[in-house]
Order: sequence, then C-alpha cells, then structure tokens
Amino acid sequence: MNISKKLLLIVVLTCLEVSITVFSAFEIAKGAQFHQLNFLHLKYINQLDKAVDKILPNTQINLAAIEANILAIRQQPMNCLKAANALNKLVMNIIDTRHALTLCKQDVKRANTTLQSVNDYKNDKINRAEFLFILNHALDEFNDNSEQFEGPITKTVSFIFVTFIPLVIVISIFNVIYISYLSRTISSSIRNLTTLLSSKSNKTDLEDNFSKSTPDELKELISAAKKRIENDLLNIESSKELKAIVSSQTDSLQLANDELAQFAYRASHDLKAPLSAVKSLSRFIVKDIESNDTAEAISNAKTITKQMEKLESLVVDILQLAKADIGNEETSPINFEQLIVDVKERLYWLMQDIPCQLEIHINLEVEIISDKVRFTQIIENLVSNGLKYYDKNKVSPLVKLDISNNENSIIIVVTDNGIGIPKPFQAQVYGMFKRFNPELCSGSGLGLSIVKKHVEYFKGEITFQSSEQGTIFKIIIALDKL
Ligand SMILES: Nc1ncnc2c1ncn2[C@@H]1O[C@H](COP(=O)(O)OP(=O)(O)OP(=O)(O)O)[C@@H](O)[C@H]1O
Ligand SMILES: [Mg+2]
Repeated sequence: MNISKKLLLIVVLTCLEVSITVFSAFEIAKGAQFHQLNFLHLKYINQLDKAVDKILPNTQINLAAIEANILAIRQQPMNCLKAANALNKLVMNIIDTRHALTLCKQDVKRANTTLQSVNDYKNDKINRAEFLFILNHALDEFNDNSEQFEGPITKTVSFIFVTFIPLVIVISIFNVIYISYLSRTISSSIRNLTTLLSSKSNKTDLEDNFSKSTPDELKELISAAKKRIENDLLNIESSKELKAIVSSQTDSLQLANDELAQFAYRASHDLKAPLSAVKSLSRFIVKDIESNDTAEAISNAKTITKQMEKLESLVVDILQLAKADIGNEETSPINFEQLIVDVKERLYWLMQDIPCQLEIHINLEVEIISDKVRFTQIIENLVSNGLKYYDKNKVSPLVKLDISNNENSIIIVVTDNGIGIPKPFQAQVYGMFKRFNPELCSGSGLGLSIVKKHVEYFKGEITFQSSEQGTIFKIIIALDKL
C-alpha cells in the first residue's frame, strides 16, 4: 500500500472514531435525560397518589388539581417519545429495548383516558366510585410503567458503554500505532535516500537500492526530479553544442574569408604579370614594325602567344579550383584506362621534353561510379607534378601511378623519385599559388589546392611523404562517399 492510501485509511478511521465518540456521548446524555424524565414522572405520580389519598368520603374532589397532575404525568412520556430519534430506535431494536418507548406510549394513552374520565365525572357520565376506581387503576399502571421503564434505558446506556467506548479505544490505539509506524517508515526512507544520494555509489547501484528500500511515492518523486535534471542538463548540453557549432562555423567562415582575400590578391597579381608583359611587348611590336624590324616583331609576337598561353592555363586552373567547391551530381561509371589515355594526351607537351618514365598500375575490383572530372583533375595534377619536378641527377627518373581498391575504399598512389618537397615548405604544399621551384617549370601553384578540394569533397584523406629520394602522394576515398 502506498503512502497516500495509508494516510487515507488513517483519515477514515479517525472520522469513524470521532463519529462513534460523538454518537456515544449523545446516547449517554440521552440515557441520563430519560432517567431524569422518569424521575419527574414518578414525582408527579406520587403527587397524584397523595391527592387521591386525601379525597375523603362525601367531600368535593379537587378536579382541577387532579387534572393538572395527570397532565404533568403525561408530559414526561411525551418528551421521551419526542427525544427518541431514528438512530436511537434502531439501536433499541437491535438490543431489544424498544419496549421502553411502548411503555411511554401506554403511559400517554392511559393519561388521556384518565383525563377523559375527569371530564366524564364532571359531566356526571360516571359516578364518584367509578371515577376513583379509574384514578387508582391509572396510578397503578403509571407506577408499573415507571418501574419497567428504568430497565431498558439502563440496558441501552450499558450497551453503549460496553460496545462503543472499547471500539473507540481500539481505533484510537490502532491509529496511534499506525501513525507512528508510518512516520517512522517515511522518515527512515528519507534518511536512507539522503544517505544513498550522498554516497558515491554508481548509477546502477543507486537504482538497485532505490527499488529495494524506497516507497513508491518517493521513487516517483526521485524519478520526476531525475527527469527534470536530465532535461535541464540536456538543455545546457544542447546550448553548449549550439555555441560550439556557432563558434566553429564562425572560425571556418573567417578562414574562408581569409582564403578568399588571399586568393583574390594572388590571382590578380598572377594575372597582371602576363598582361603587363603583353602590353609592353605589343608596344615593342609597334616600334619594330615602324623600324621595319620584322624578325624582332615576330619574336615579340611569339612571346606574346606564350604569355597568353600562360594566362589561359592560369584562368583554366582558377576555374577548376572554383568548380572544385561546387557540388556536381553528375556521376557515371569511370573507365580509368581511358581516363589515363586522356591524361597522357594532355601531358604530351610535358613528357616529350623530359626523360622521365610514367608507369601505370590499375587494379580495381569494383566499378567506380562517380564524378569523372574530379578524378581526372586529381590524377592529372599529381602525375604532372611528378613529371615536372623530376630529378635530372637520377639515372632513371620515374613516376608511378597505382589505382586500386580494398573492401571499403579506392586508393590512388602517385610515387616519384624526383627532387622532393623541401621540409620547410611541406606544411604549405596545399596552399594556393605556393610554388617552391618556379625556376624548374611553369605552373600556377593551384594544382595541389585543386586536388585537396576534390578529396575533401569526397570526404577522403590525402597524405604525402617527401624527401630527396622522391615523393609519394596517397589518397583514400570511401566507396560509399563516391
Ligand atoms: N611531386 C613533387 N615533387 C617535388 N615538388 C613538388 C611535387 N609536387 C608539388 N611540388 C611543389 O609544390 C608546389 C605546388 O604544387 P602545385 O601542383 O600546387 O603547383 P604547380 O605544380 O607549381 O602549378 P600547377 O598549378 O600548374 O599545378 C610546386 O610548385 C612544387 O614546388
Ligand atoms: Mg602542379
């Protein structure tokens, strides 16, 4: 039974106890009242008796006094009948003392007939002897009734004493014992809970102990408090997470902003160089033509073409870099053999002038369905770097491209035995427009930035190792991210 039910039982028992006590008190008081009325009844009977005794032969009877006495005698049973309510009648029925009320009714009836006789005597309907006989007979009956009335009233009061008072005492004792038991249980549970909560036991131990020794209501209280605390913590946690997200996004926005500013500066700087060169060269050409120096004019025009090619390739690279950031939903199965043929064709200008060999190994067990342009740019940039930065001092300069897969990923490895990236510059290798050997070969310094952006787009990983022996770039991209 939970605490509220136990408290309800105590309240019900206390109400019962109070009702019984009040009822008993009223019943006992009523018993005393009935005794008092009977005592008065006897007094008036006695008065009537004396008045009748005083009637001497041939003297006139004081009818008014006798009538007043009978009326007084009649009043007590009438009061008794008025005082007895339904509950008294029920109790009297149960303990078989109802005839006390019957005696009252008989008394009233006898008093009424005696009063009638007084009238009859006054009107000479009955003679003196008959009247005196009726009076004496009535006195006998009043006396008998009074004597008999005491018994049931005493029995009723005793019954109340014997039955209800012990019942009240038993309920009171029960209540006292039960209330002290309950308060001990509650206070010991609260003490246990306080000890448990302040102990260092872990969550499961705590929950075990709660279920063993804690009343249901306290368990509910604890679990409501727990939920509230968890919710509050969750709110705190989510607001912390929100703050972290906002701050990380602010950081990356700041980074992107810086990158953009740097990009704009470097791009315009690199675009400006060939444009200025072309401007000066075209002025020279005009002068050459004016002085009829056609050979010089042709040579300057060729230089212009070279500068324009540089400019074009720079613009193409910038475009590629911009596109690398934009998502492209166009995917198709990639034929890597064909892709390599295309790359080789585009790098022909580079390969024809250098003694560097290109070795290709394709070992794919799964069909790669993805954005072909991104893979082409990744491979072309890494391979072109290997070729461009080959080491003249090595006997057989070599660039090796391996494309394979394992269970989860596609792996692209480009290995060369070229000049390597000097240690101090390795940290900046993916930076835009960063070139560490501009004297060796042309380029815009955007190739590796483009590669990195494509790998990031696929949520893949790019790493490299570089020394004077050469450089290895390795890319791993999960197949489910392609
Ligand atoms: N395999 C490599 N071996 C040696 N140095 C390398 C290698 N790859 C890159 N580098 C160095 O890193 C720099 C940046 O490379 P990146 O590909 O970004 O630019 P780039 O090749 O100079 O120009 P492009 O935009 O035409 O690719 C290069 O200029 C070069 O100094
Ligand atoms: Mg490059």
